[in-house]
Amino acid sequence: MDLLELFFVSLGAAVVVHYVVKLLLFIRILYPKIWFPLPKSFFTSMGEWAVVTGASEGIGRAYAFALAEQGMNVVIISRTKLTLDQVAKDIADATGKKVKVIVADFIKESVFSEIEEQLKDMNIGVLVNNVGMLPSFIPREFLEAAELDQTILKVINCNVKTMVKMCKIVLPGMEDRGKGVIVNISSGIASVPFPLYTLYAATKVFVERFSQGLQAEYKDKGIIIQVTGLQLFLHFFFKIFYPVSYSYFLSYRQWLHWGLHPNGRLSKNQHDDSVTRRLCKKLPAVS
Ligand SMILES: NC(=O)c1ccc[n+]([C@@H]2O[C@H](COP(=O)([O-])OP(=O)(O)OC[C@H]3O[C@@H](n4cnc5c(N)ncnc54)[C@H](OP(=O)(O)O)[C@@H]3O)[C@@H](O)[C@H]2O)c1
Repeated sequence: MDLLELFFVSLGAAVVVHYVVKLLLFIRILYPKIWFPLPKSFFTSMGEWAVVTGASEGIGRAYAFALAEQGMNVVIISRTKLTLDQVAKDIADATGKKVKVIVADFIKESVFSEIEEQLKDMNIGVLVNNVGMLPSFIPREFLEAAELDQTILKVINCNVKTMVKMCKIVLPGMEDRGKGVIVNISSGIASVPFPLYTLYAATKVFVERFSQGLQAEYKDKGIIIQVTGLQLFLHFFFKIFYPVSYSYFLSYRQWLHWGLHPNGRLSKNQHDDSVTRRLCKKLPAVS
């Protein structure tokens, strides 16, 4: 084997090893229990209550269930009282934990003082900033969104302002107690510039940067702040085009288990990502 041949064989071997290692690291996500173990009492040790925004449906509902299954009482917040009451009943029946319902429309400025009042004196260990919305489900150029001024207000208030305000409400208590977990929901879409979902993608980049900066500020105070980036399109594809297979084969439980993995950059730079993985470990099947 001459020198050039040896060089290319070594290069090829290095590339194969690189991708095999990447694949093995990815496969760990499928077995969070083994690779990212946390003590059983981890969430309850953070505090008595978990707060989840946008919890009447979808991913927020699944988070609320998962946290109650981990032994926490949960506060669920969104606009529709009827749905929230039903979710509260389902969680209480399934887990025996307390569920507090707060009806709020995050688009309105006035809701935050009311929420702060309702959360006053509660020992909140976990906050999941889940609520979020698209300007329009159909991909569109920025100026083509219907009622643009209103849309800008709604998307920024829901996706950005609510997260910041909820952190402001919950962080002082966590700081006093020297512990707490905040999980902010971003999107896979934040990883690259995303024309036609520009406003939405930009708000999710804000979620990531805010979470990363906040984690750096509050890490030494015992508070864990993580951001997760969900992968968007598969979800919508199954939800819309295959509603039947979706509900059977891609329940939220599976979705969270397979698709909800923490943002790599934050995990690598700030701390390990075992908290979010632990939540994804065992979720109720919610179709
Ligand atoms: N689903 C995905 O594929 C995907 C992908 C990437 C990222 N994400 C992110 O994951 C999060 C959850 O997504 P999802 O698909 O589970 O959402 P979803 O099914 O549309 O649920 C949204 C939740 O937020 C509540 N909500 C909506 N507008 C609200 C408002 N103005 N005030 C208060 N509550 C409001 C809704 O309840 P009411 O209507 O009763 O208020 C509902 O409980 C979002 O931040 C989203 O950006 C989702």
